[in-house]
Amino acid sequence: MTTIDRVVAADVAALAAGPDLLVENIGQLCTLDAPGAGPRRGPALDDLGPVGPAALAVAGGRVLAYGPAEALRARCGPPRAVHDAGGRCVVPGWVDPHTHAVFGRTRQDEYERRLRGETYLQIAAAGGGIQSSVRDLRGRSDADLRDLAVARLQEMLELGTTTVEIKSGYGLSYEDEARMLRIAAAAADMVGLRAVRTCLAAHEVPPEYRDRRDAYVRLVCDEILPRIVGEGLADRLDVFCEPSVFDLEQTATILRRGLELGLRATVHADELEPFGGAALAASLGADSADHLIRIDAAGIAALAGSSTVAVLLPGTVFSLGLRAYAPARAMIEAGVAVALATDFNPGSCPIASVPLIQAIACTQMRLTPAEALAACTVNAAWALGLQDEVGSLAPGRAADFLVLDVDDYRLVPYHAGRNPVREVWRDGRRLVSR
Ligand code: NIG
Ligand code: FE
Repeated sequence: MTTIDRVVAADVAALAAGPDLLVENIGQLCTLDAPGAGPRRGPALDDLGPVGPAALAVAGGRVLAYGPAEALRARCGPPRAVHDAGGRCVVPGWVDPHTHAVFGRTRQDEYERRLRGETYLQIAAAGGGIQSSVRDLRGRSDADLRDLAVARLQEMLELGTTTVEIKSGYGLSYEDEARMLRIAAAAADMVGLRAVRTCLAAHEVPPEYRDRRDAYVRLVCDEILPRIVGEGLADRLDVFCEPSVFDLEQTATILRRGLELGLRATVHADELEPFGGAALAASLGADSADHLIRIDAAGIAALAGSSTVAVLLPGTVFSLGLRAYAPARAMIEAGVAVALATDFNPGSCPIASVPLIQAIACTQMRLTPAEALAACTVNAAWALGLQDEVGSLAPGRAADFLVLDVDDYRLVPYHAGRNPVREVWRDGRRLVSR
């Protein structure tokens, strides 16, 4: 980490002409702006880039410059607006690269059943789990699903998320997957969140295909994905790769088809058993491999030697009441690019709070507060292929930032369970003030 000791500007002439907004009196600006290509790996994950008291200039919705307040004022023409951050900490808006935020009913019945001793897989085998959310979603109106999604995404925004990935996967037919993706986009738009839409038609085999699983894989490849892509409804595709869901060969078939259609790829991998999903994701050039609770040494080595980001979801382990978290330290030490996400969904993780995920990552996986912050911002942006847009406050990036109600970023995980976000800004406009 370095101190902010000079002005870093995207466009010196534009700065001299005067920014749209000057954020002054920032007690601790965490820029996450550091040289080097690629996501943060190894010791670089613990480095927040230039950090310290600063001012931030914004023009056209983008970061124009940051620097020590007096030096920036001296180089800057008259700002059209000035905002006082009150000596508080300013960080990039959180990027949450893995959520299932469109769903109908919540599943607290299953939560209680697990607490009484049943496992996630036993409940799924008895018709609960994903299947129960599929039945529920298929019977709900668009307006109902949209209102529920808007309320959930609004809560995420108030907790500091400015970019969110939203998966389908509770439809499992062309019509219902398309409906989910349209609702995801509309709801995010209404709330003001930047959204990435992921088609997860391969989340489970729907009941009508129970005894012909390969026929469902063909339906996904030959009909669902081409139609979704044809209508421009998704940016990425995802597959739940597990022995009891889609095996390695089925996963590879679906991923290859999606990539061929121009989608980016991600995989739910090595969550319940070490199964080779992470290595497959790396070999196909997926953006990310997610979960990885049971990843083995070969999977870690495959990710370390690839551009695929490991998205860890410790809120899921916590919410399921399990003991074993993903081996985050071993992955970081091996040079894997690690990011964090909520996995917000009605079954395995009802946590929508990125600050709480940072707290769980610190105490349960031994990330440092700086590593957790980088994993929820710059590396999470890499996991979505949005590294040139969001995830850091480098000049030129979108002016998506949070004014926290604390003066030290380490207080975010330290105060586990509270919302440390006071203001949320996206594209240089304030969306939340608490
Ligand atoms: O990421 N693992 C599969 N999908 C979700 C769970 C979805 C659900 O239970 O509804 C997950 O944990
Ligand atoms: Fe998930």
